[in-house]
Amino acid sequence: MSNDAIEIRPAEGKLGILLPGMGAVSTTFMAGVEMIRKGLSPPFGSLTQMQTIRLGRRDENRTPMIRDFVPLADLNDIVFGAWDIFPENAYEAAKKAGVLSEKHLEGVKEFLEKIKPMPAVFDHNFVKNISGSNIKRAHTKSELAEQIREDIRRFKEENGCSRLVVVWCASTEVYVESSPVYESIEAFEKGMKENHPDISPSMMYAYAAIMEKVPFAHGSPQMAVDIPAMVELARRENVPISGKDFKTGQTLMKTILAPGIKARMLGVRGWFSTNILGNRDGLVLDDPGSFRSKEISKKSVLEYILQPDKYPDLYKDMYHKVRINYYPPKGDDKEGWDHLDIFGWLGYQMQIKIDFLCKDSILAAPVVLDLALFMDLAQRAGMKGIQEWLSFYFKSPIHAPSVYPEHDLFIQLMKLKNTLRWMMGEDLITHLGLEYYD
Ligand SMILES: NC(=O)c1ccc[n+]([C@@H]2O[C@H](COP(=O)([O-])OP(=O)(O)OC[C@H]3O[C@@H](n4cnc5c(N)ncnc54)[C@H](O)[C@@H]3O)[C@@H](O)[C@H]2O)c1
Repeated sequence: MSNDAIEIRPAEGKLGILLPGMGAVSTTFMAGVEMIRKGLSPPFGSLTQMQTIRLGRRDENRTPMIRDFVPLADLNDIVFGAWDIFPENAYEAAKKAGVLSEKHLEGVKEFLEKIKPMPAVFDHNFVKNISGSNIKRAHTKSELAEQIREDIRRFKEENGCSRLVVVWCASTEVYVESSPVYESIEAFEKGMKENHPDISPSMMYAYAAIMEKVPFAHGSPQMAVDIPAMVELARRENVPISGKDFKTGQTLMKTILAPGIKARMLGVRGWFSTNILGNRDGLVLDDPGSFRSKEISKKSVLEYILQPDKYPDLYKDMYHKVRINYYPPKGDDKEGWDHLDIFGWLGYQMQIKIDFLCKDSILAAPVVLDLALFMDLAQRAGMKGIQEWLSFYFKSPIHAPSVYPEHDLFIQLMKLKNTLRWMMGEDLITHLGLEYYD
């Protein structure tokens, strides 16, 4: 089953990670990478830095670290840039986000203070509950996209980067169903020239990145890089894209638990999920339009994993409800409550209750790191368009129209690791018993 390794350009020179949005997730990510570089903490939560990968048969005992197996950028070669509607530098933004302690922030203060956000492309029609002053102005959306492209080129030059990746970490935009302007590159470009109201800032960032041949990973739930125009553009420009909506907190728990419940053929009558959070993300999600994007992203997970069409006796009547409650005193310490009504043998009922007192940005930061490194790897490996093997990191994995998205965390992990094995010309792991080999 082994293939020839595919050609991967080496990770030489600096990698610039550009982040639209410099709030809780971005600052926790940047501060964390710097602390890890200084040896102040191990890179907990990151597969690229901490996980191993099994190669060959179990009796071969080959399990290198992923970072030693595939040619990833070195953390010391990373430089950061960001855009935000607020002009504060990354240290001030991190203090405001309130995720990391004063003590931790002091240790990386100088580093963070140097990261100042570039003016953002922002549109109140897409994010209602916040306003800032650090914003680009232009007559058309085409001109705004061009300004982002200039930022990207300038950043690359000024920082001497050999490669860049963009990871969207800005606020969730309102839900837009679909629009004719998304259907082709031509329609989208015409729409930008004519200031079409359905073209959002996240789409303009994605367009600019792809046109600059920079991979784009999408961390929020709204449509951006997953519209037909952008998928076509990414393929045309040979750029990898991935998304969407970082899988952290409650959805991570769901995609860990639901595959287990289904594996044992236990039924689910109801699954009620409520989130209580008080950070700026929560404030944005307090707007019904932004909440709708998130709700759709969160809700689809269970339907895909449990497959009620294939297992109607177990899941057809499942009642699935998702709520997000903005409650400022919670800050970034989100509380994800899940109440499950399940049933087993002879229909006897049971309950599972989960109260996950999580820290959203602490869970998201290593996801941003892994995505940036893997997207850079994908580009050097010549992989273009949708990177389904990175579904592991997303609540709503972008997928080809002909297939359904894979939500099961364990299948996603297998897919990710098999893709790495495939890249390096190693056998894909089948988990077949040793006695059936040879
Ligand atoms: N934290 C998690 O675990 C998690 C999980 C999944 C998805 N997300 C998504 O990641 C995103 C970031 O989350 P966060 O907690 O850091 O939120 P945050 O509110 O702290 O940060 C978002 C930042 O984006 C800025 N922003 C808004 N619109 C912008 C634009 N058009 N251009 C540039 N900057 C813009 C805001 O000013 C803010 O500083 C959100 O969309 C959130 O839904 C987060």
